[in-house]
Parts: sequence; structure tokens; C-alpha cells
Amino acid sequence: MRIFLSFTLLVLLVFVLTPLAFADERVEIFSWWTGGGEEEGLLALLEFFSANYPDLELINATVAGGAGTNAKAVLKTRMVGGNPPDSFQVHGGAELIDTYVKTGLMQPITDFLQEWGIKDKFNQQILELCSYQGELYAIPVNVHRGNVLWYNKALLAQYDLEEPTNLYTFVTALKQLAEQGVTPLALGDKNKWTATHLFECIMVATLGATKYNGLWDGTTSFNDPGIREALVVFGEIINYVNEDHAALTWQDASERVFSGKAVFNVMGDWAEGYFKTMGWTPGQEFGWIAVPGTRGSFMVITDCFGLPKGAPNPDGAKAWLKTIASVEGQDIFNPIKGSIPSRLDADQELYDPYLTDSMHDFTTAALTPSIAHGSAAPEGFITALHDALNQFITERDVEQTLHRIKKAAADFL
Ligand code: GAL
Repeated sequence: MRIFLSFTLLVLLVFVLTPLAFADERVEIFSWWTGGGEEEGLLALLEFFSANYPDLELINATVAGGAGTNAKAVLKTRMVGGNPPDSFQVHGGAELIDTYVKTGLMQPITDFLQEWGIKDKFNQQILELCSYQGELYAIPVNVHRGNVLWYNKALLAQYDLEEPTNLYTFVTALKQLAEQGVTPLALGDKNKWTATHLFECIMVATLGATKYNGLWDGTTSFNDPGIREALVVFGEIINYVNEDHAALTWQDASERVFSGKAVFNVMGDWAEGYFKTMGWTPGQEFGWIAVPGTRGSFMVITDCFGLPKGAPNPDGAKAWLKTIASVEGQDIFNPIKGSIPSRLDADQELYDPYLTDSMHDFTTAALTPSIAHGSAAPEGFITALHDALNQFITERDVEQTLHRIKKAAADFL
């Protein structure tokens, strides 16, 4: 009998208690960072985390697809189904607040920053994007810039072109390049967000930052002529993209610039991280300017992580949040990722000439939240805009597309 009892106890220990103890030591961090540059940045951050918390087993849960094309749907299903990861990548702004905070799926973490004594160390406008009704719900690990025009320096010199500074000279440059038989602008809109990304940059150029920002608080009407103009210019610009654009991802498009098959690419500065992992040095092989016509504006994208309600290991999640909130963590991640820190006290020496430029512009330019990357508008609007632009690329019907965009605004904003 005694032997039987001891055996039962052993079974209990091995099969019931061990998994529980194990569960406590695991921390699952969910993101879509699998592409060149983004993966390297994430891995460096995970390594830093593991060095500080050797007892925690890190689960690097990724779902591939730029801008969260596939990850966002997987995450939503898990969150709604009561199976959240311990922490997950999410964009500050509407994506965090409307999708997860207002629906009651996140824990406020305002106290964490107070406990760690670092609330005043962050850019407050970025913290605002992570806050709702006075509470903080996520820690911003970085700030990306969306409105960047990248170019292959050797090709620009070969075709004897200057950096275009407004939409008009940009279109002229694209035309000249096309006449010489090279792909002027690389686009990879296999995932629809890249077309929206290009379009939102053009919108900032035609509307200006103030009117663009007014679209999200109702002070600018969607009847504003700047939107129509953006669509017309967008139509002109996409006349000069690679024919196989619908088969390519954002990385494929950036790679066209790297391999000398295209001169320009409009992409967020995660492309900078990608160029660097392929071996390019900023300012040597590639150059950058704000998308023509948007020089005084900074299209803001911020990657954040929070604490979902029901996270299996909230202490582990807290350790992760402390890591990404730390200046050391941010200084390890951002120089590789191609983003700048959300903290104000980063070590500027660690940032390359592109990122130094970005830091400067971030503090001086007007900030405009990105639509394509979840900050400006709720998911319903973004999906409708993706679809409208996608259809526009094949049909080129300005009036129909305008109608669709206005309807999306009326339905979702
Ligand atoms: C953005 C994200 C960036 C980068 C990019 C491409 O939405 O904020 O960190 O990962 O997608 O995947």
C-alpha cells in the first residue's frame, strides 16, 4: 500500500507539478520579425533577455509576413480565444487601443514604468500612442519612419540624377529612368499594405501634415482635394514600378535596389536594417531622403509590447517588458532593426548616419501616424483602403476609388 502511495505521489509530481513549474519558466514572445534586419534585431534582443533571465525559457513565436500580414490574424484568434502569448508585437495607436485595449483584453502597465523609475525617459508623444484613459498599455521599443525614399547611389550617379525634392521632380525622374530602360521604382505589393504605405506618403505630400492628421480627428474632410490629388499622383507613380510587383514582398522590392535592378524604393526604415544585413553601409551604397514633398513630416510607426490579460506567465512578461523598456535593450535592438529608440537617453554614438538623421528629423518634423501600420485608423478602415487601392492599381478608376475611400471613412472613422 505504502509503495502504491509513493508511486502515486511520484506520478503526481512528474506529470502534474512538473508541467506547472515548467509553464512558469516559459515566456512566449509573439512577433512577425522573420525578415532580414528585423530577425537579427529581434534575436539580439532575445539574447540580451536570456542573459539577464537565464531561468526563463524564451519561446520566440513568430508568424512570417511583413507588417504582420499573417501574424495579426493569428494573434487575434488567440487573444479572442483566451490563449494569449505572454507578450506580443503590436503597433501603438488604433491597432493597440481599438483592437485590444477597448475590448478589455490588456492589463494596464502604468505602474511598471513608475516602479522602474523611467516614465520620464520616453518620448511622451509615443507613450501617448500606447495609452488610453490615462493608463499605459504597452511599451514602445522603437520608432520607425515610414516616409523614406531609398536609392541605389551608383545608379543615381550613372543616370545623372539629383535627389528629387517634390512630387513633380520625382515623377519627372521616374520618367527619365524608364526611358533609359531601368526600373525606376521597386514595389512589392503581394501583401497589400505596401501600396497603402506608398499612398499614405503621397497623401502627406499633397495634404501636408496638419490636414493629414486632421483626417483622424475629423477636422479634415475626406472630400479635401488633396486626397484626389494623392490618388492621381499615386496613379502616375505606379506607372513606373516593376511589372512583377504583385508577386513580390517588401523585401523582394528592397532587394531590387540592392542588386541594382531598380533605382528607388519607398519603404519604412526596416529596409535600412535589411540593406545593412545584406552588407550595405548607409551613405556609401545607398542614400535616402524623405519621400519627395514630405520633408517636414515624419510618418510614425512604433512597435510595442504589452501584457495581455490571462498571460500564462505575467512575471516573465514583465521581465520582457523591463528588457525592452531599458536603454540597453533599446540600444541593442534599434541600431540593427533600422529604427530609433523611444527613449530619450539612448547612446547616440551607437546609431549610424541614417539613424542619426532620423533621430534629428523625429525631434524637428511634424509627426504623422501611419495608416498602413496601424496607428492612425482602425482595422476596418485599413482593410477597406488596402482593397480600394489594390483595385485602383488594376482598374485606375479615380472616381470609384475616391468613393470607396470616403465610404470606408464614413463606415469606420
Ligand atoms: C512594420 C513593423 C516593422 C517591420 C515592418 C515589416 O509594420 O512596424 O517593425 O517589421 O512592418 O515587417
